[in-house]
Amino acid sequence: MPSSPFIIIAIDGGAASGKSSTSRAISERFHLLHVDTGSFYRAVTAELLRRGVAPSDTAAVHHVLPQLKLTTRVQGRSASMEIGGHIAGEEIRSPEVNASVSHFAAIPELRTFLLAYQRGQADVARSHGFRGLVMEGRDIGSVIFPEADFRFYLHADPAERARRRAEQGHVDQIAERDRMDSQRKTAPLTIPSGATDIDSTYLTLEQVVEKLSGLIEAKLPRL
Ligand code: DC
Repeated sequence: MPSSPFIIIAIDGGAASGKSSTSRAISERFHLLHVDTGSFYRAVTAELLRRGVAPSDTAAVHHVLPQLKLTTRVQGRSASMEIGGHIAGEEIRSPEVNASVSHFAAIPELRTFLLAYQRGQADVARSHGFRGLVMEGRDIGSVIFPEADFRFYLHADPAERARRRAEQGHVDQIAERDRMDSQRKTAPLTIPSGATDIDSTYLTLEQVVEKLSGLIEAKLPRL
């Protein structure tokens, strides 16, 4: 019997667009490793802030990055970034990290630093026996895995996204982060050509997951 193919699903979208809940549900449904690349940018941001590095000080960023030893721990179905063997906690969702993560993420050297690490998550998924991976972020379908089997772009009305974030109890500048993430020169937030665009403003999480699952299942036998 031929072995089943390794599946890569890319889910991009703006802040609070529903990427995480959707990706988590898709990872369960199809036995995939869930990789939240926003949490990677957040963990590196928290570490740089902890070391007193400001995003405007690119020389310091360049100096510190090579010192960060990145590894991955798989917990349940999710990949967590370890820096020097340590997994960052809830501080990666703090107002301080929310306010500076997009500034750090706009630094090309930082994006290059994370590129191989993100692509390497496919090997992590394989070595843990997953059928594939679902990776969420801003540039997954455009830069990290442009050849992914499935590329989705989630969006939702800004007011609805602000409501969802407030419901989670987080202080976040969604519109400001989206503006910065879309306007940066390197790997901006964009709908990759050929990606399936899904507006979740008036859909429940279950409806979004059903929609994606239907599209995935329809194509799976042909992979
Ligand atoms: O998905 P999130 O809101 O947790 O992501 C936090 C920030 O990380 C986001 O504002 C921009 C950056 N990011 C990025 O530049 N590229 C990615 N692939 C994922 C996140």
